Amino acid sequence: MSVADDSQLGRVVVERKLCTSNEIELVRAELKGLAEKGTTTSLGDLLVQRGFITHTQLSRLQTAMDEDSMYRPAQQIPGFQILNKIGQGAMAVVFKAKQLSLDRIVAIKVLPKRLSDNPEFVERFYREGRAAARLNHANIVQAYDVGESGGYHYFVMEFIDGKTVYDVVNDGRPMEESEALGLILQAAKALEHAHAQDLIHRDVKPKNLMLTKAGDVKLADMGLAREVGDYATATAEAGRAYGTPYYISPEQIRGEITIDARADIYGLGATFYHIATGKVPFDGTSPSEVMHKHLKDPLVPADHVNHSLSSGIGEIIEVMMAKSPDDRYPSMSELIDDMEAVTRGEPPFQARKKYDHELLKTLATGSRMSEPGAEAGEIPGHTPRVSAHWVLVLGVLLAISALCNVLLFFRG
Ligand SMILES: Nc1ncnc2c1ncn2[C@@H]1O[C@H](COP(=O)(O)OP(=O)(O)OP(=O)(O)O)[C@@H](O)[C@H]1O
Ligand SMILES: [Mg+2]
Repeated sequence: MSVADDSQLGRVVVERKLCTSNEIELVRAELKGLAEKGTTTSLGDLLVQRGFITHTQLSRLQTAMDEDSMYRPAQQIPGFQILNKIGQGAMAVVFKAKQLSLDRIVAIKVLPKRLSDNPEFVERFYREGRAAARLNHANIVQAYDVGESGGYHYFVMEFIDGKTVYDVVNDGRPMEESEALGLILQAAKALEHAHAQDLIHRDVKPKNLMLTKAGDVKLADMGLAREVGDYATATAEAGRAYGTPYYISPEQIRGEITIDARADIYGLGATFYHIATGKVPFDGTSPSEVMHKHLKDPLVPADHVNHSLSSGIGEIIEVMMAKSPDDRYPSMSELIDDMEAVTRGEPPFQARKKYDHELLKTLATGSRMSEPGAEAGEIPGHTPRVSAHWVLVLGVLLAISALCNVLLFFRG
């Protein structure tokens, strides 16, 4: 935190009666003494250490300060009249505004100044923002423009009069299977379109799926590059009391450089899991615990959590959320095929192929059997599921053997 931020924090803490001005002066004096001895810390951290405020209070105050400091720059964006604040996420504040030249209502996302210090982020923000503006799909929030005003970068997009899928599932109640399927299918089609233009979302989650009043899904934040889609960012965000990484893919957690479309398949799978069961796939008391589970823990199949779900949906989600990208659907198109099959009341053929392929590999090499928890017919890292297909094959074999025994008995 800068000196200017420190002085603003001191003022806000006193205004909110969390400290007296005398106490702030004492902490400031201590801060100065520490700096002279070569120890640098911030006023906020020292206030927490000395027990004047809690970590949670500090992050709430920082959020409120960020918000205040962004309202003014937003009002300065040329060509737009800011109407009101719509929302606030980990990275940015979103405003409803009027684009004066076209007399239309838009949404403007303003990024905090700290992101301007990262040239790599800024470059990617403009590159992907422009690429996203070239996308045109009924299920993608239309990106209009990216720009900079007074050191603040902003993103102008279609205004969605509705709510997010997160608002719908926040009460912990699962959605009806057909509703969840229809919703994820629309998001998958949006992502298929983006992937065809080489754009990966990297942050697919219920908060980034908006629902219009007519019930259409609109994928938000397409092309809005995350600072770095990895462990470091997720941890930093969580440290500021923002979202926990419930939907992040294992390869993003590992900070792999080459993330492909299959990372979005995982994020969409985790989103599907949440809306179909009312629960996130992996929970924990800290972001690192959740991330560790994404990497290591077997997934409890969605249809074992919500027993009213069909096993087809459970199988689809398992393949979407396989730990290794190679065990997932290779692209959105195969996933869409399976979702359409289940919608027609047929089994998810592509997912079954994956199971059967894994089983054949297991039988051929025996190698996976030595892995802890590995079973035939199991996608690695998942709770074992015996494919109905293989049950049928075994059943037929048993029937043939019984028939042979009967024939031998009579011939003998
Ligand atoms: N195009 C839009 N039209 C209307 N409202 C929007 C639009 N984009 C975002 N919002 C609202 O603004 C809120 C904040 O969005 P933002 O993308 O900054 O954060 P988020 O996606 O909710 O969370 P996070 O920061 O964890 O990714 C959203 O939850 C949504 O309610
Ligand atoms: Mg968002």
